[in-house]
Amino acid sequence: MRERAVDRQPGLSVRLKLTLSYAGFLMLASALLIAVVWVFLLRYVPDSEVMYGPGGFIPNRSDLWRAFAPRAGTALIFLLVFGLLGGWLLAGRMLAPLDRIRDATRRATNGSLSHRIELEGRNDEFRELADAFDTMLARLEAHVAEQQRFAANASHELRTPLAISQTLLDVARNDPDHRTGELVESLHAVNARAIDLTEALLLLSRADQRSFAREHVDLSLIAEEAAETLLPLAERRGVTVEASGDITPTVGSHALLLQMTTNLLHNAIVHNLSRHGAVWVNTAVGPGAVLLTVENTGERLAPQLASTLTEPFQRGTERIRGDHAGVGLGLAIVKSIVQAHDGTLTVVARPAGGLRVTAQLPAVRGG
Ligand SMILES: Nc1ncnc2c1ncn2[C@@H]1O[C@H](COP(=O)(O)OP(=O)(O)OP(=O)(O)O)[C@@H](O)[C@H]1O
Ligand SMILES: [Mg+2]
Repeated sequence: MRERAVDRQPGLSVRLKLTLSYAGFLMLASALLIAVVWVFLLRYVPDSEVMYGPGGFIPNRSDLWRAFAPRAGTALIFLLVFGLLGGWLLAGRMLAPLDRIRDATRRATNGSLSHRIELEGRNDEFRELADAFDTMLARLEAHVAEQQRFAANASHELRTPLAISQTLLDVARNDPDHRTGELVESLHAVNARAIDLTEALLLLSRADQRSFAREHVDLSLIAEEAAETLLPLAERRGVTVEASGDITPTVGSHALLLQMTTNLLHNAIVHNLSRHGAVWVNTAVGPGAVLLTVENTGERLAPQLASTLTEPFQRGTERIRGDHAGVGLGLAIVKSIVQAHDGTLTVVARPAGGLRVTAQLPAVRGG
């Protein structure tokens, strides 16, 4: 399949161009060499016929030219043919990797991302190009797979509340007494959950699009704001929240950064011990970066599990308390927000149990 995004004038192939340059250069060099030989020969031959010795002539320049020119011509023609042929073969060999790269590009264009060039041989410009292309393909393939997983999970999650509503309605229809009070309650709860999920999905795509206004903000103020809002929840659950830290100026969307901090703090409160839980929020300024760290007590988590929690719809171990049925998008949203602000997110399991989550964002001087 040959698809052309841009219509271009047809041109000579690179192989032909290289061949012509090889042959051209060979002709030029040969002509120069022949000229040098000619000049050299001239020094030994007199201008006109002279008597030499008894009764003998030595050849003059025009004799020499008559003898020299046809042979030089033949040599040049031979060299031309040699140059064209050799150039064609050499150029073909040099450009062979390009064919493989082009084939791989065509396959990728047609949607096959699993193919790799895997160019062998030593490191040179073609090898570098092919390796870079392979790396790009690998990342693209992983990205597409992730998107597909995400779409499948999202559809599954969205179907769940609909299926539950359907079951509730079926049960109510077959109920001879037609009691609707309970039904309305249950449907309301299921619907609220579906709205939460949809809103979380919208937020995720908004952070991914990176289309938000940036302003100077202070992370420590945002952390305070989030802590204030969530304090009643913490009190209900018997969790203490300690906030500390310096002024941490950065640039970003106030609303999104508040969402990020709220999600982290909310997680730290709800995924905590059932009694005497603690949460520590800290903001700090490092070299070139500002840090927001949220740490909490809780169940022990496997270290390798911690890094997977930021994937969408990933929930940790089975929930010990049934009253917080999360959507599983909280940390995915945090990660998207951090990445949209050119920062990095690290999630580590604390050895004593619970989690430590650090968001690192670029610092602004004098913010
Ligand atoms: N601070 C934390 N301490 C312990 N476990 C945590 C913490 N934060 C997240 N987790 C674990 O990671 C999982 C994913 O968290 P995430 O915030 O993405 O989803 P969620 O809290 O379950 O749902 P929601 O979308 O409502 O936030 C949680 O289910 C929980 O098991
Ligand atoms: Mg959460």
